[in-house]
Amino acid sequence: MTGILQLLLLVSMTVASEPSCPACSKYDYEEKVLERMIRMEFAFKKVLKENKAISKTVEHDLTRIKEENERLHATVDALKDHKEIAERKLVSLMEEVERNQSSTLEKIVSDSNTTLEQTIVAFNDIKDQIATPLVYFHARSPQTSSLSTDEVIVYKTVETNQGNGYIATTGKFTAPVPGLYMFFMHTCTRPNTYGYLQILKEGSVLIAIKQYNT
Ligand SMILES: *[C@@H]1O[C@H](CO)[C@@H](O)[C@H](O)[C@H]1NC(C)=O
Ligand SMILES: *[C@@H]1O[C@H](CO)[C@@H](O)[C@H](O)[C@H]1NC(C)=O
Repeated sequence: MTGILQLLLLVSMTVASEPSCPACSKYDYEEKVLERMIRMEFAFKKVLKENKAISKTVEHDLTRIKEENERLHATVDALKDHKEIAERKLVSLMEEVERNQSSTLEKIVSDSNTTLEQTIVAFNDIKDQIATPLVYFHARSPQTSSLSTDEVIVYKTVETNQGNGYIATTGKFTAPVPGLYMFFMHTCTRPNTYGYLQILKEGSVLIAIKQYNT
């Protein structure tokens, strides 16, 4: 449109500025104007043609730019999606790491607690043992039921012998560590028979009993 306007302006200016020519033919001026107008028409057509070509190219370029723009938009959208997915993944990973850390910490604490408790129990056991060494025995069933005077009773069956104080071959007890010891003795005699029994310590009588008839 601007092209047409400019052209018309050019024509009118040409018409206005043409001087009169008395030496030429009667229609000389009109002929010249006509000739110019025809030339201008050609030029105008040429410009129009060029314009058309240009506008076609521009249209084509615009379409291409539009397509390119759409492709770019799609790429940007895809990148946005990727970014969001990556962000979500990162957040959940961080949460998992946090959970793992706290559960690992809890486990360490509880393990330490268990170990500590076990150590305390073990320590108390050892402490008691150090303070009071375990020494005890239980023996039963005399090898003979008919004893001669001053014969030591030797028991056939030794049930327990913690500290190995009792000697099963001699029937004697030797204290492995100094301390206070307590002895129980349970005996039976046959009907119409006597039993004289003593507990001796290094030859001295600690206690003696006499029993008769069952
Ligand atoms: C979290 O702990 C689980 C089980 O112990 C393990 O399979 C996983 O890989 C850990 N995750 C991380 C992010 O450390
Ligand atoms: C450690 O064990 C004790 C006794 O079982 C308990 O009272 C305490 O809560 C435990 N501590 C931890 C940190 O688990």
